[in-house]
Amino acid sequence: MKNTQPVKGFSKLSKHAKLEWLISRYSQKPELSQSMLSGYWHADAEVQKLHDEFIENTISNYYLPFGVAPNFLINGKLYALPMAIEESSVVAAAAKAANFWLDRGGFQTRVISTRKIGHVHFLWEGADPQQLFSFFDRVKSKFFDQAEPLTRNMVLRGGGIADIQLRDKTELEPGYYQLEATFETCDSMGANFINSCLENFAKTLQTEITEYDTLNAAERTVQVVMSILSNYTPECIVRAEVSCSIDEINEGSGIGNREFADKFCRAIRIAEIEPYRAVTHNKGIMNGIDAVVLATGNDFRAVEACAHAFASRSGSYRSLTHAEIVNNRFVFSLNIPLSLGTVGGITNLHPMVKFAHEILGNPGAAELMQIVAVAGLAQNFSAVRSLITSGIQKGHMKMHLLNILNQLEATDEEKEKIVDYFKDHVVSYSEAVRVFCSLRGVTAQSN
Ligand code: MEV
Repeated sequence: MKNTQPVKGFSKLSKHAKLEWLISRYSQKPELSQSMLSGYWHADAEVQKLHDEFIENTISNYYLPFGVAPNFLINGKLYALPMAIEESSVVAAAAKAANFWLDRGGFQTRVISTRKIGHVHFLWEGADPQQLFSFFDRVKSKFFDQAEPLTRNMVLRGGGIADIQLRDKTELEPGYYQLEATFETCDSMGANFINSCLENFAKTLQTEITEYDTLNAAERTVQVVMSILSNYTPECIVRAEVSCSIDEINEGSGIGNREFADKFCRAIRIAEIEPYRAVTHNKGIMNGIDAVVLATGNDFRAVEACAHAFASRSGSYRSLTHAEIVNNRFVFSLNIPLSLGTVGGITNLHPMVKFAHEILGNPGAAELMQIVAVAGLAQNFSAVRSLITSGIQKGHMKMHLLNILNQLEATDEEKEKIVDYFKDHVVSYSEAVRVFCSLRGVTAQSN
């Protein structure tokens, strides 16, 4: 049994000392772990230092494949989408959908709104809310004035504080009010900007109320609970759409065009009314969205949290996409809130992220919103197309085959032969093991 005492002052240790500590306590194979972790360090010490400094206690790097899905025609412009993801079939599915829609006019997108929201959550124990509203109206301009040093640069770039409102939430919780502020953050995701403004508003609120002598002494105080942006941004919405004549919808998937279109719309409808299906359906959308969000150095946790809250806005969890047939045209669309940045965070630091932005033509945030939404729509199109025709496993397992063969430690020559065999056979784990074993002349173990 290794020493299980807690460690003190870990973050102050050098990287080598942290690594040594970790390996000596937790690794079963210290030498292998040591060479694996240091093997993942970047050869260029400057680049490694950059990574070390992104977070605390960095001991190594964590690689994900960085793939690219070309041929995305978006509003008449061709893009190759960078995607960072571990799931075998996602990039292939994106590329397939891109090619399919390339011949049918491509993707049309539009940013519907770009507002971000944040709150100062506070308690006020006064008897008459109206008095707080009168106070707020009287001092409202001071929130803007006193935050001016923080907002100056953003205003020069065309953004800033759009509005501040006082919200009475006392029906939910006694004494609970909010300052609800909306912001335009241009090409940055804006979290730091918004949080700094909100903390400034909280100070202004606390100072101004003490000086507001229309209120009695006990009412001239608020308790600020917290000041924080909301990752729910239902006013930061983008729409992506594809459409084509029903006569063109279904080349090569084995069922008739009308039947395909009807079945597709039915599958989407099921995801609109059945939360069990909706979660998997939206997960498929997020396969595409997260991969581009991650590759472009954006906050996929914020994007995920927001998307799922938005999917629940009707009171039950629903599909984020919608499909319909209008005048013999198949129309498939996605509306999704996406709060993204193309400046700030690691976007201008991480070499792979910088490259991802470069291959997209260094878009602004609004353009990136549109590209990311397309990745989600394309992914959903490919998934639903497979689900209603061949089933999902055929394509998925074909892509997963190399993972299985790598697990079995197949040689390149064996891989080539086995991949060739599965060109016209259905892939399953057990069948892959059987073929592998028969190639090696050994008996497959049954489990
Ligand atoms: C797998 O990662 C995603 C799918 O399950 C999505 C879907 O079912 O629509 C294929």
